[in-house]
Amino acid sequence: MSSQIDHLLTETRRFAPPAAFAAAAVGTAELYERAAADREGFWADQARELHWHTPFTQTLDWSNPPFAKWFDDGELNVAYNCLDRHVEAGNGDRVALLWEGEPGDDRRVTYAELTDEVKRVANVLTELGIEAGDRVAIYMPMIPEAVAAMLAVARVGAVHSVVFGGFSADSLRTRIDDAGAKLVITADGGYRKGKVSPLKPAVDQALADRGSGPQQSVEHVLVVRRGGNDIEWTDGRDLWWHEVVPAASAEHEAQPFPAENPLFILYTSGTTGKPKGILHTSGGYLTQAAFTNRVVHDLHPETDVYWCTADIGWVTGHSYVTYGPLANGATQVLYEGTPDTPHPGRSWEIIQKYGVTIYYTAPTAIRSFMKVGRQVPAEFDLSSIRLLGSVGEPINPEAWMWYRSVLGGGEAPIVDTWWQTETGAIMISALPGVTEAKPGSAQVALPGISIDVVDENGGPVGEGNGGLLVITEPWPSMLRGIWGDPDRFVETYWAKFDSQGYYFAGDGARLDDDGDIWLMGRVDDVMNVSGHRLSTTEIESALVGNEAVAEAAVVGAADEATGQAVVAFCVIKQSYMTKHEELDGLVGELRAWVAQQIGAIARPRDVYLVTELPKTRSGKIMRRLLRDVAEGREVGDTTTLADTMVMSTISGQVTKK
Ligand code: WT7
Repeated sequence: MSSQIDHLLTETRRFAPPAAFAAAAVGTAELYERAAADREGFWADQARELHWHTPFTQTLDWSNPPFAKWFDDGELNVAYNCLDRHVEAGNGDRVALLWEGEPGDDRRVTYAELTDEVKRVANVLTELGIEAGDRVAIYMPMIPEAVAAMLAVARVGAVHSVVFGGFSADSLRTRIDDAGAKLVITADGGYRKGKVSPLKPAVDQALADRGSGPQQSVEHVLVVRRGGNDIEWTDGRDLWWHEVVPAASAEHEAQPFPAENPLFILYTSGTTGKPKGILHTSGGYLTQAAFTNRVVHDLHPETDVYWCTADIGWVTGHSYVTYGPLANGATQVLYEGTPDTPHPGRSWEIIQKYGVTIYYTAPTAIRSFMKVGRQVPAEFDLSSIRLLGSVGEPINPEAWMWYRSVLGGGEAPIVDTWWQTETGAIMISALPGVTEAKPGSAQVALPGISIDVVDENGGPVGEGNGGLLVITEPWPSMLRGIWGDPDRFVETYWAKFDSQGYYFAGDGARLDDDGDIWLMGRVDDVMNVSGHRLSTTEIESALVGNEAVAEAAVVGAADEATGQAVVAFCVIKQSYMTKHEELDGLVGELRAWVAQQIGAIARPRDVYLVTELPKTRSGKIMRRLLRDVAEGREVGDTTTLADTMVMSTISGQVTKK
């Protein structure tokens, strides 16, 4: 790892933006100066790019840290900003969504059409008793109705909780219960990897056998027909979208809501077993999502065709599919399926078909394209691309160079964007028309954002050194809390640097001699698999929930394709071993078990059956040592282990397998 880091930090290649790009860029060097001179005034200016039913007079209220209020006395309607105002400005015929289904069916949805649909859905929500502040769970494939559902919930001032369609019924149930959702919006199924992947059955399962769970909060399930798969129906509870939405009125006047009205909850893994419901509100969130989408992606809404490949189940899909681009009046591609279905050139076919100019994806996807080889994209015309973006995990310089040369025609600027579910929007990134790009570094804080790299005591480490990444000033799209758990919010993000008042991101970072930031991965028990955040503890508790497992330890091991991979070490119960002579097949069963409990993304790459786990004298599992084993390295310092022999036993058991 450390030699890898040294290698990264000696990266000397620099790429200035093409002159024509720089000349026409939305984000200019002047933004840094303006923000430095008056940070709050700068954000107030950005907020005024939105439509406010009631203009705000106060920018930031930080009188009760870490609970921020931005633009608090202002009122706006988030959906109005993403829809009606573009129609009223005469842009109703502009295409909002260039939707492409996985099997190749497609739909173009204009701003006028999307506005009409959202107004109808908003009326349906009201008829179903959804009021401002109520929670609505959304469990959907990547279809236009998913975007419409989010916007309709926002339009009536309610709060959505989008649950990624790849999550299991159990994960869905936990999220529905935690938020107390009154309504679930779903589809029968959607296309994934060449077949229909069912969704409604998981909703049924999540809502059945509530057992000792909280009082059933869900009153209705609104179902889009997409997959055509057979589903069960609960009369009185379930409603077809295609029956109720077209029948509803398309008259709906957007009401103003306070800037701090909750907009959404999005669950993300933390260091404990229970996912955290990250809460975002309206005015500040939309301000920063829209601003960053303009300046980082260099969005020219009249001419660009933008494509962010993220699913709406992740924060990237919230900020850079739904809210940022639509607030800016962009035309964007929305793709339902997987990038290699039905053929490995599917993404390039889509770029060619729609003339995509801005492409935003994750390093894990780039690495998988690299593996297939450049001859695949070479068969398509990708010359429309003029900007590339990366998000979710560090991008290695090799992948960066491939991205630029194969997809970017050797000259498209690349923006490596660092942010989190909690930050709501991009925080660290180049401005593509200004910054000289450096492969592998996310580079610098955006205008209006204050970031530092500090030591354990909160002191700045200075250029040339490594430490912990902190955000030193509040920002408009910051999380406002963890749903239902203010103490956990304070404890998780603010307690570590309490005296400085810094937000602790959980990432390690280094500053190079130019002051550019290099992200070094999580410093806590959180893994990053294909740019998705997974908690070691959450997977461990799923494993010990299996009848065979007495104890489990999970680590994230370096993986060429996915960045990190889940590797589990399990101690099997004596009682299970006496009952089952053979443990053959158990490894496969445990992998499948985790996928079923949490979702396919959490399925361990490897499961090792061991007789013991390495523990300190106080009983804490030493995951660092297991990571050494999982990554095939010599095991590090074992002197704090209660039993120093245990690691050689484990190493023996792992290699025997
Ligand atoms: C964690 C946040 C941001 C939306 C997708 C992930 C890692 C994110 C980068 C980047 C290095 C990155 C961090 C962060 N991360 N972007 N450009 N370079 N690391 O959102 O699931 O909330 O995860 O992803 O470790 O803390 P998330």
